Amino acid sequence: MKKSVFISGASSGIGRTCAIYLSEMGYQVFAGVRKQDDAEKLKYESGNEIIPIFLDLTDENSIREAAKTTQHLSESCPLVGAINNAGIVVAGPLECIPISEFRQQLEVNVIGQLSLTQAFLPLLRRTQGRIVNIGSDYGRVASPILGPYCASKFALKALTDSLRMEVKAWGISVSIVEIGTINTPIWDKSIRSNEKIWDNFTDESKKLYSSMLQAVKDKAGELGKNGLPPESVAKVVAKILEAKKPKARYIVGLDSRLNILMSKFVPDRLLDRIIMLYLGL
Ligand SMILES: NC(=O)c1ccc[n+]([C@@H]2O[C@H](COP(=O)([O-])OP(=O)(O)OC[C@H]3O[C@@H](n4cnc5c(N)ncnc54)[C@H](OP(=O)(O)O)[C@@H]3O)[C@@H](O)[C@H]2O)c1
Repeated sequence: MKKSVFISGASSGIGRTCAIYLSEMGYQVFAGVRKQDDAEKLKYESGNEIIPIFLDLTDENSIREAAKTTQHLSESCPLVGAINNAGIVVAGPLECIPISEFRQQLEVNVIGQLSLTQAFLPLLRRTQGRIVNIGSDYGRVASPILGPYCASKFALKALTDSLRMEVKAWGISVSIVEIGTINTPIWDKSIRSNEKIWDNFTDESKKLYSSMLQAVKDKAGELGKNGLPPESVAKVVAKILEAKKPKARYIVGLDSRLNILMSKFVPDRLLDRIIMLYLGL
């Protein structure tokens, strides 16, 4: 019998690559998307193998409906994995980031992920399935201006750790993939969306934080292009789904490995200085 997996945020980048990769491996992939266009593209590119399911993580009804549809469709192909991948990057100084934007960051990257996980757990309990959370080295090392995003990834790591212990008794594994820089549309998208947020800052805030905002924006533009291909993450996700006993955490990328090492061994104030120097500040 074919086994199935659900991937949130499958319209682009890592989620899309995972969807195609796992579908080619023989999994029935349920791909969370928000737009009809993206659903059509995934169906076309996979020869109708991938089944898109509409999912907006900021909308409880949408989460409930997506889970219901998955439950129905997975009757003939048991759900063995839920890959919590969808994510956005909200950036701005914590002094002036609008609280509504901060809330949106947590809704998508943390609260929506937990809500979807809750909905899938009864299905995963039947198959002793796997939950894979797509985290980041920003879940270990915080950076200025990226406070909202870092808070979301630190929170996701905590959820991963708590949940792993809670559901172990039923043979459900929970892993986090702590990813460094990957070449996906997230970099350009986040520069565009955050510029809109920054445009609405007061002149005073713009003046206070202009050099930091510019430094982070320049770094984001430069980093995205030099990232690893998203296939490097898809391979690790596949490994987790296929492993007899998945590990609690996986690291993708030398940059992530280095940052995580520094977070463990470098004193806080020295780490602050290294990060500021890295940003040219
Ligand atoms: N790329 C990196 O360097 C990197 C590094 C570390 C961690 N990550 C993590 O990897 C994950 C995937 O990122 P990516 O780089 O592949 O970015 P991406 O190409 O921008 O993909 C993000 C996905 O999330 C979806 N999404 C956004 N808001 C949503 C919502 N409200 N409800 C449901 N889905 C939503 C997007 O859908 P739409 O197309 O409809 O907006 C898109 O499919 C994220 O969690 C990110 O934090 C990425």
